Amino acid sequence: MNLKVNIPSMANTLFIGKNLIQLDSVDSTNSFARQLLSESRPLDGTVILAKEQIAGRGQMGNTWAAEPGKNITVSIVLYPDQLDADKQFFLNMAVALAVKDFCEFVLLDEVKIKWPNDIYYHDKKLGGILIENSISGSKITSSIIGIGLNVNQEEFDPSLPNPTSLIQIKKPADSPDYDVVKLVEELCGYLEKYYLQLRQQHFNFLDKGYTVALYRYQQTHEFKRGDSVFKGEINGVGKDGKLIIHSGSKELRFGFKEVEYII
Ligand code: BTN
Repeated sequence: MNLKVNIPSMANTLFIGKNLIQLDSVDSTNSFARQLLSESRPLDGTVILAKEQIAGRGQMGNTWAAEPGKNITVSIVLYPDQLDADKQFFLNMAVALAVKDFCEFVLLDEVKIKWPNDIYYHDKKLGGILIENSISGSKITSSIIGIGLNVNQEEFDPSLPNPTSLIQIKKPADSPDYDVVKLVEELCGYLEKYYLQLRQQHFNFLDKGYTVALYRYQQTHEFKRGDSVFKGEINGVGKDGKLIIHSGSKELRFGFKEVEYII
């Protein structure tokens, strides 16, 4: 049975997480949020947190698998209606920076953003972000921010390339496991901080923060485009969200899935 609990959260925020919907089991929190949006206008900053997702979705039509009850699988409903659709990557930047800062707060160690929105600790993936925007004309009318973060999970499907979790990196000081709900409340604070920067149109602040937080920023590494491997250095991200790589004397720009990191 899917138990739905609507409780006022303890999040120390103005609006993100004030309305917290906790579900035992759901297909996908992003799909649940989409359904809510089709039936009503949930409060700005509504958070949907599920213990279990049976059809969790990742980027590019991939699935997102997480052991029930052990991880953060959460979606947040926002209305960034003053943001032009052609600036939607700044929302990505804000969310990725928030999740990165939150992980650094927990781990007391450096965490990176693997373009466009994977959360990395050294060469391992801690989590990912799936943002689904509704656009009307030139504006974003609503946005579903899906965040999957590995927290207490210690064993992963061997088909996953390089997963890790908070607990594998650092054990909590005062208990055997991390308290997922408390972590989500904390995460809400980071999300709100960066979302308010976005609402104030502090695009340069977000761009600079995101750029320097990029995994392998300004380091020479190998990348794969189709069947060919080339060496290059990540130099930033365009306003359109494309990854900029300098390779020899050339500046190359790639959309999502047009280039692969060799890790
Ligand atoms: C990725 O790295 O591919 C993105 C993963 C995003 C997963 C989260 S879990 C909560 C939310 N609900 C979903 O179905 N997906 C996102």
